[in-house]
Amino acid sequence: MRILILPFVVLFCSFGCEPNQPIAQDTLEQQIDSLLSKMTLTEKIGQTAQRGTSSRVKGTLSEELKTAVREGRVGSLINVMNKEFVDELQRIAVEESPNGIPLIFARDVIHGFKTIFPIPLGQAATWNPALVEDGARVAAVEASSYGVRWTFAPMLDIARDPRWGRIAESPGEDPFLASELSAAYVRGFQGKDLKDPTSMVACAKHFVGYGAAEGGRDYNTAIIHEALLRNVYLPPFKSAVDAGVQTFMSGFNELNGIPVSGNKLLLNQVLRQEWTFDGFVVSDWNSVTEMIAHGYCADEKDAAFKAARAGVDMEMTSQAYDNFLEELINEGKLDEKVLNRMVRAILRVKFRMGLFDQPYRKENEEAILSDSHLEKAQESALQSIVLLKNEGDILPLRTTQKVAVIGPLAHAPLDQLGTWIFDGDQKDSVTPLTALLDRIGEQKVKVAKGLEYSRDRSTSQFSDAVSAAKQSDVVLFFAGEEAILSGEAHSRAHINLPGAQEELIQTIRAKTNKPIVLVIQAGRPIVLENIIHDVDAVLMAWHPGTMGGPAITDVLLGEYNPSGRLPVTWPKSVGQVPIYYNYKNTGRPASEASFVGIDDIPIGAWQSSLGNNSHYLDDGFRPQYPFGYGLSYTSFEYTDLSISEDTLASNDMLKVKFKLTNTGKSFGTETVQLYIQDHVGSLTRPVKELKKFQRVKLNPNESKTIELSIDASDLKFYNAENKLVLESGQFSVYVGSHAEASMKKNFWVK
Ligand code: NOJ
Repeated sequence: MRILILPFVVLFCSFGCEPNQPIAQDTLEQQIDSLLSKMTLTEKIGQTAQRGTSSRVKGTLSEELKTAVREGRVGSLINVMNKEFVDELQRIAVEESPNGIPLIFARDVIHGFKTIFPIPLGQAATWNPALVEDGARVAAVEASSYGVRWTFAPMLDIARDPRWGRIAESPGEDPFLASELSAAYVRGFQGKDLKDPTSMVACAKHFVGYGAAEGGRDYNTAIIHEALLRNVYLPPFKSAVDAGVQTFMSGFNELNGIPVSGNKLLLNQVLRQEWTFDGFVVSDWNSVTEMIAHGYCADEKDAAFKAARAGVDMEMTSQAYDNFLEELINEGKLDEKVLNRMVRAILRVKFRMGLFDQPYRKENEEAILSDSHLEKAQESALQSIVLLKNEGDILPLRTTQKVAVIGPLAHAPLDQLGTWIFDGDQKDSVTPLTALLDRIGEQKVKVAKGLEYSRDRSTSQFSDAVSAAKQSDVVLFFAGEEAILSGEAHSRAHINLPGAQEELIQTIRAKTNKPIVLVIQAGRPIVLENIIHDVDAVLMAWHPGTMGGPAITDVLLGEYNPSGRLPVTWPKSVGQVPIYYNYKNTGRPASEASFVGIDDIPIGAWQSSLGNNSHYLDDGFRPQYPFGYGLSYTSFEYTDLSISEDTLASNDMLKVKFKLTNTGKSFGTETVQLYIQDHVGSLTRPVKELKKFQRVKLNPNESKTIELSIDASDLKFYNAENKLVLESGQFSVYVGSHAEASMKKNFWVK
């Protein structure tokens, strides 16, 4: 029987509200009360069940599943990708289940649905929240047409280790940038009104600490002390809550010895009590029952108890709740009130989404891969590309130059889409090779793959590649990783170019001495130590998505001046990992002046402390490229830094002013970055922390005075007692184009 919600709303609205006005909070809670009072224990437990099929199966509609939905034993489904099945299952839920509660259909729509945008790490390199928001909106408009009204994104795990395959899905290493992007994703996915049929409820994941997996090995242990958790790992999640995110996902990992899917402190205290989040928490795939393998739960029943007690409201795919919640309640081990709270949270989101009034998907086929969506994807890819090296201004290419297009990623339509693209289709990809041939014509392009795919170790095609290079003025070497080498469960111990790519680059260099432009498509920073001196230019294009080819071509040809900036520190070697910009100074900070390299040590030297500082003898202390780094075809100069105050009180604001000039020859976009350093803290503070950034467009010779401001409250941090405090003392503010910016002013907080 279908519940009759309408009269309730009509009654409420007859006292003066507009039809589209959000339902007032108490009315919503009353609606939930009334519904809850009619639900049996079985139905309540049903709401906590998310049943799933594998992402590759386009949905299976078994009689068993239909019966479960009909009996109200399912709250949500994941990966049902057949529109008729979606419609039929929803019809059964609404028309035939005891209380007509609609289902929510979920899917991993991570960086696009059919129109694929750059991987999230690439989108983070745009440093452009508005563009990220647009990308999420496009994804929601497309996915909702298939009935997907809930996405498992954004992934907000701070990642400091590029060996971790899921760094590709992350917003990078910095809490501030990640927080800005977090809010943008939520706004984009959810849209202006959750009831809009194109709104897709977002899910902040993986709460929390998953990105700190030991050694970058996926699913591994995370150890993060509470203040670090609050200062670095939690802020993007808090930002999602502030932006109105409706769901959270508890991760696979354990944190400080407790699996996060059984962690009361995180889910109940931090998320619900401190942050007043009132949406619902879903577990990760089987993460409830995996608490048995973690050694935290004895069996499924124990796992059901600990997850429910901790605050996991819905269980993804495993069925511990289904099998044991009733028993736990009947035995008096778990209070039914706990279950009621869980179900209330799930129903609250379903009501907010308007599913009770409009449960069915809205067909929107014409939006899929529409011109405007492809344009947005291309813009996002363009802005994500980071120019890392450009010796002798080899880029942009001159129109007269003949180019050799070599390498396994020049025409790899699947790989350019990146990880987590269940619904993207490689036939829609425009590859760099296709775009280049289209733009500069076949006469000027020599093509030789050299290697079939990124892991290929065969040298059998090397001679073709060398011959193509010899006949050209410039080599465009398209290198990188296949999409499958990053993402979930795809951590790598060696993060240089896989297969024989390095060898091929070295061979071309040795045999032709032609300039080489290295274009990388990969899910993580790639260690370049063996080839950096063999190439003249390096462009990092991440896995750029459907429109990656035209975007890369625009940058190569100078039709777009690269503006991407690194959202993660780029290591020189794996041995430097973890390496991130907001490190602690230590008692013996590294410096150029005191650096001692491995070859500086005399043979037979006596034991000594060698420069007395925190560095590697062989790889120093600097990364290959710092966080925030990225070149342009023009140059920018920062001058005239001034600050409005020398001393700040707790309610004050500091205005930071400087002049930015385009000193080169072309129009360009600079991302100005403002960092602070808190010199002395009751808990030691990082050497720098990003607090503001802004993209600024300038014509050649144009100058702009930029004013950025920070509130004294932006200088607060969680201290050793886990309290958010502003401590008095000396600070520095730095502005510049990356985390090694040195132009600074000092000020004091009273
Ligand atoms: C496991 C992944 O960790 C998570 O990110 C994803 O959303 C779920 N599987 C569902 O596919």
